[in-house]
Amino acid sequence: MNLDGKIALVTGASRGIGHEIARGLARAGARVLMVGRDPERLEAARAGLAGEGLDVLAFAADVADAAAVDDLVAALPGGLDVLVNNAGQIDPAVSTWDLPVEAWDDVIASNLRGPFLLCRAAVPLMRARGWGRIVNVSSGMGAFADGLDGGHPAYRVSKAGLNALTKNLAAELSGQPILVNVMCPGWVRTDMGGAGAPRSVEEGADTAIFLATLPDGGPSGKFWRDRAEIPW
Ligand SMILES: NC(=O)c1ccc[n+]([C@@H]2O[C@H](COP(=O)([O-])OP(=O)(O)OC[C@H]3O[C@@H](n4cnc5c(N)ncnc54)[C@H](OP(=O)(O)O)[C@@H]3O)[C@@H](O)[C@H]2O)c1
Repeated sequence: MNLDGKIALVTGASRGIGHEIARGLARAGARVLMVGRDPERLEAARAGLAGEGLDVLAFAADVADAAAVDDLVAALPGGLDVLVNNAGQIDPAVSTWDLPVEAWDDVIASNLRGPFLLCRAAVPLMRARGWGRIVNVSSGMGAFADGLDGGHPAYRVSKAGLNALTKNLAAELSGQPILVNVMCPGWVRTDMGGAGAPRSVEEGADTAIFLATLPDGGPSGKFWRDRAEIPW
């Protein structure tokens, strides 16, 4: 479906996968509000997409900061139809007992508290418009099925939590025209994924864009990779 007339918010849109998701949603017709913490990098990213003729805005905010999320919601250009919780951080590849408490707190805040704050703010706006798509960007590293293998404890636990947040929220919205899904982009060449990753940002962003443009009555409360459902 196209997103003509829709308003989308993409977190972590200043680089990497989120930047490509913002591009894809804008190409699909949405007006896209791009979010990241570093204002200069965010503005450069916005200007680049605007230079491609896309309808993009920018708002610098830390998604884990409740007051900043309030300000961000107030800056939305007239409602919200699509939310993509993509912003994320990863902790070092150490075991649980070697992880500094501050690193745990930072990762859980960005990867789980942030999406909670944004979902909490987005649902009333989407209900008011009678339509919504929420896409959470998770990772196979958070899958109970095959991802909780040790190391990066805050990252893996935050993504397992994000999966749970998604399934729980989808159940709360069952029967309503707001679809909530979570996806794994695969291992992607970004600042986080590193130069040796096998996937491009286009490949990483594809399933998020697919889920943000699901037709009415589409699936909700599922975990996806490569446009296919995967085990939790
Ligand atoms: N790359 C991979 O291989 C891979 C694999 C599986 C899942 N993922 C997931 O995909 C998502 C995007 O990853 P990526 O590789 O594109 O990461 P990235 O290149 O490191 O980019 C992360 C983006 O998130 C923003 N960000 C981080 N913390 C934030 C916060 N608290 N508030 C607002 N913005 C914040 C960053 O901007 P600022 O630093 O300016 O805030 C940046 O725009 C993440 O959720 C990640 O866990 C990635």
